Amino acid sequence: MHLGSRSLLVVLAGLLAGCGGHAPPVDAAFVAKAQVTWPEASATSLDRGRELLVTACTKCHGIRTPSDYTLREWQGYLREMAPKAQLSEDQVALLLRYVTVAREVVPP
Ligand code: HEC
Repeated sequence: MHLGSRSLLVVLAGLLAGCGGHAPPVDAAFVAKAQVTWPEASATSLDRGRELLVTACTKCHGIRTPSDYTLREWQGYLREMAPKAQLSEDQVALLLRYVTVAREVVPP
């Protein structure tokens, strides 16, 4: 059977997701984007959200890539996963901010 380049891409995307996902770093552009919605957001607070995603959220599975899910899906998953990861409400809020901006950094 011939694999078209499109199906090859789908296979590659699947492999990448299986390798643990991607959490884009918090750089100056990332902070600027966040501050459009949350003027008080800082590199420190956004990085704390990222830390939670790559540490507290990887005890049972790999990193989940922010752009793999819609914001609504993230809200649902966070409600479900926060107790599993034993996150406080404040931590969930930081994580959600990071994910909201990170979703736009990595093209879907
Ligand atoms: C105690 C183990 C555990 C922790 C900690 C945990 N998860 Fe999960 N997660 C699971 C399991 C098991 C599933 C698959 C079944 C389900 O959807 O409930 C899952 C599924 C998911 C999914 C759905 C996509 C998929 O791969 O099935 C997302 C997104 C997700 N987790 C994100 C997170 C985030 C974000 C955190 C941190 C707040 C987190 N998880 C912490 C166990 C965990």
